[in-house]
Amino acid sequence: MAPGTPLTAPLGSLRHTGGVTSDPIDAALAAAEQRYVDRRPRTRELHERASAVMPGGNTRTVLYHRPFPIRVAHAWDGCLEDVDGHTYVDLLGNFSAGLYGHSQPAIAEAVATALADGVGPGTHTAHEVAMAEAVCERFPTIERVRFTNSGTEANLMALSAARVVTGRERILAFRGAYHGGLLTFPDGPSPVNAPYDVIVAPYNDPAAARRLLERHADTIAAVLVEPMLGAGGCVPGEPAFLRTLRQLTAEIDALLVVDEVMTSRIGRHGLQERLGIVADLTTLGKYLGGGFSFGAFGGRADVMGVFDPGRPGALPHAGTFNNNLASMVAGRVGLTEIYPPEVAERLTARGDRLRQRLNDVFADAAVPFQVTGVGSLMNVHATRAPIRTIEDVARSDPRRKRLLLLDLLDAGYYVAARGYLALSLAVTDEQLGGFVAAVERIVSERAAVLTP
Ligand SMILES: Cc1ncc(COP(=O)(O)O)c(C=O)c1O
Repeated sequence: MAPGTPLTAPLGSLRHTGGVTSDPIDAALAAAEQRYVDRRPRTRELHERASAVMPGGNTRTVLYHRPFPIRVAHAWDGCLEDVDGHTYVDLLGNFSAGLYGHSQPAIAEAVATALADGVGPGTHTAHEVAMAEAVCERFPTIERVRFTNSGTEANLMALSAARVVTGRERILAFRGAYHGGLLTFPDGPSPVNAPYDVIVAPYNDPAAARRLLERHADTIAAVLVEPMLGAGGCVPGEPAFLRTLRQLTAEIDALLVVDEVMTSRIGRHGLQERLGIVADLTTLGKYLGGGFSFGAFGGRADVMGVFDPGRPGALPHAGTFNNNLASMVAGRVGLTEIYPPEVAERLTARGDRLRQRLNDVFADAAVPFQVTGVGSLMNVHATRAPIRTIEDVARSDPRRKRLLLLDLLDAGYYVAARGYLALSLAVTDEQLGGFVAAVERIVSERAAVLTP
């Protein structure tokens, strides 16, 4: 079956008959969930096996959703096939790390060629030099770079560097920010966060940031900020807010650390360049490993110089796989050959158009949904109210959003359970057209239940 082909009878035939609830949205959700379960016996069986050996059958929390998540057997281009044989257009692209699709031939070939020379020599190689050159050339604020295994690690290292360089302890971060599993601030710090001394400020509120930074000027080592709240719901940072952070950190001699793990794919040189912000340190990850595990932190040569192992008293920065061949080779081929600045600009514009089309569909159907984001990164919310902060995101109606997403899965379109999409280069215009048409059909057939 072609990806995107509806897997089911028209949604109009989905009517809950269990009589458990009289609330139309609950009834529609129960029917959609039952249908999801009925169509996935093999997925369910594997989930039960997985649950016997992993808590919740899961080893990456974000992938989990009730009643059990899809489990993929095969992926190619911009498509997925689950273990029950259902195909999906992959609109999530591994949470933005899958920018190149699942079977980019130039990457596959370059990695195979490099690995033929030995999988993990455990030494310096020419490949990491080429990758570091590509990163420094692409991102103008990065004068020196070091590689890690993940974006989380990159942020942890950047914060540690800032604390050593400034001789201060505290970090200012923002409510709704996600900088990795150990640096999450959904509504204050998460219980599994690394034990940094963090002040959590409201996002997109320059006056509050000013107050806090002035009050704690002597103790703040760094301000850590995403130029768009990513996992927090693709909430764009406002230029005035980000400019204030740049100005204030300079005034108090703290470092501005801009987390571009998600947003470095935006525009020609990442989102901070688009917004005219110059970070002291920038963190990277996701697609830059060409589909393999990756993270990087870099920036001012004087700051990064503290890691120069040739210097007396240098800071250590360890990691068995920091310069692993697959990430270095795939990352370099991806960044220089497949995603040069002009392609990045085009994908950003394509994402902007998709977001506009979806917002038009929601407006025309008069259903309370909207899509926020920047370029190829976007998030669906079940609310019409303007979204500038994580508190605004929290006003989205979870049941209505879930119903839309279950219907989309049923129609053969995969997006994250939180409503997140990260457009990859492998998704075709035809597939995107099919997706927009599917959204249009669902909101028209479901208009009554999708509107409170
Ligand atoms: C903005 C941001 N920072 C950091 C991270 C953590 O990256 P990783 O999952 O590679 O540890 C993510 C991952 O989603 C992210 O979106």
